[in-house]
Amino acid sequence: MNNKKNTGINRNLTSYGDPEFSRYLRRAFLASAGYDDTDLDRPVVGIVNTSSDYNICHRQMPEMVEAVKRGVFEAGGLALAFPTISLNEILTSPTTMLYRNLMAMETEEMITAQPMDAVVLLGGCDKTLPAQAMAAVSANLPALHVVTGPMLTGHWKGQRLGACTDCRRLWAEYRAGKLTDRDIREIEQSLCATGGTCMVMGTASTMACLVETLGLMLPEGATPPHATGRRLKNCVASGRAAVELARTGRKPTDILTQASFDNAVTVLMALSGSTNAVIHLIALARRAGIPLSLDRINQTSKKVPVLVDCKPAGKGYMEDFHNAGGVPALLKVLAPHLNTETMTVTGSSLGDLIKETRPPGSRQTAIRHLSAPLKENEAIKVLYGTLAPGGAVIKTASASPGLMRHRGPAVVFDSPEDAAERIDDPALGITENHVMILRNCGPVGAGMPEAGALPVPVYLARRGVRDMVRVSDARMSGTAYGTVILHCAPEAAAGGPLALVRDGDPIELDVPSGRIDLAVPPEELVKRRASLVLPALPERGWKRLYAAHVNQANRGCDLDFLTPGGENN
Ligand code: FES
Repeated sequence: MNNKKNTGINRNLTSYGDPEFSRYLRRAFLASAGYDDTDLDRPVVGIVNTSSDYNICHRQMPEMVEAVKRGVFEAGGLALAFPTISLNEILTSPTTMLYRNLMAMETEEMITAQPMDAVVLLGGCDKTLPAQAMAAVSANLPALHVVTGPMLTGHWKGQRLGACTDCRRLWAEYRAGKLTDRDIREIEQSLCATGGTCMVMGTASTMACLVETLGLMLPEGATPPHATGRRLKNCVASGRAAVELARTGRKPTDILTQASFDNAVTVLMALSGSTNAVIHLIALARRAGIPLSLDRINQTSKKVPVLVDCKPAGKGYMEDFHNAGGVPALLKVLAPHLNTETMTVTGSSLGDLIKETRPPGSRQTAIRHLSAPLKENEAIKVLYGTLAPGGAVIKTASASPGLMRHRGPAVVFDSPEDAAERIDDPALGITENHVMILRNCGPVGAGMPEAGALPVPVYLARRGVRDMVRVSDARMSGTAYGTVILHCAPEAAAGGPLALVRDGDPIELDVPSGRIDLAVPPEELVKRRASLVLPALPERGWKRLYAAHVNQANRGCDLDFLTPGGENN
């Protein structure tokens, strides 16, 4: 037995002032779990287990953890699983975004405090994977990601259903009086047919595809549905690969480069993925010390066509994308737009992977060819203007073409609660020409909930209105759709121009020109600013720490002290 080396179970010794004693004590306690020298001489692979009864998107994770362990043991490693915070979008108030950085911080600290040579991070639901990727980059230990995978689709009256684009579409139909109470109850019981993540191109699916593109996950790891043999095989293979990774010592910062982030942005646009990915990619790049600006994202967006036919921008579901070949097949088609020299956890380049991949079959429709895209370019566009000097985003691929240029009077809501209370009141007199403004929902103001896709007022919905221009400092779910301008920076609670808008002010949206403007004379805005009172920060705990240190959306909403370079970065 070699118990002197600073590897495996001897890493990160507990500090008693006597390393020999620390090693002896560690072996004594591990003996109580049946581990002997044969076990403890092996490379140690930590497994981050985010099972939680509160996270139904991770429902079968315990089986996945066992599968990863099997792979680790088969390859000669010692697998030790440990829990961290788990975040589920639907069961967390006010929003999981408020806790992404807490999860990243906790995960990083547990990776660096406990002995392990490599780590497999099991995530899935929207914020879990970004948090784990940020943690892995900051810990900079050999790391590999595994996701729970998308749900299989459900059915109702012959319609194929998926969470949560169809949740939203059918709820809008119900609000418009097109569906009965009984219909909506039946739909409620049919939308989420299995465990796993939302089975459209929401944030979870998008981030899984981007982390695979970044090379931090085994090829084909993003799309196998939850609880299928393919998903479990990916877990076993990831366990084996993690042992190899522990031996090679390849770290996330050996893999991540400017080119790999450009590839991820390229894939984001080809997927017509979630706007939330813009925030998460910027945060992850900044953790890796790689500059990724909204402008760079915009430049890539101009060049890349939408190729994947998946809701909310398209018609299909994640299992269709998976059956068409998933991320490797998409990369094969997208190759002319990619830097194929980027590295992956396997030690192969993206180009090697593309060479081995078969092109998508001629009979599938989930992955389009470059010659027949779903949209020419600009799935997501960055806007600037007097309402968002630091930038805002719109997912043009799921917005109404007829609203891309629009001028209308503002109707202002100061919070999601204010909107919920007043939006359906006909006395407010909202017309389809109005621009609904929602503010105080940015990272400082409210932790940035997915409240940006405000519902169309019920009296307009019943007249057939399905979309209106909405502008906010909030986010929206990756499964949502509509002409929704999000992430306005700086946010209202930080004194951004959204705070100065009043009911009736003209708002000008010009997506082709990349503009979102408040058409009010500057001198009037100066007067309004003089009487502006910013909301107080929360008084205590995590919410206080978060609000005091969170960066704006255009800088990834990370905490200033977790980013290289600190608050000035
Ligand atoms: Fe978990 Fe959608 S709620 S992925």
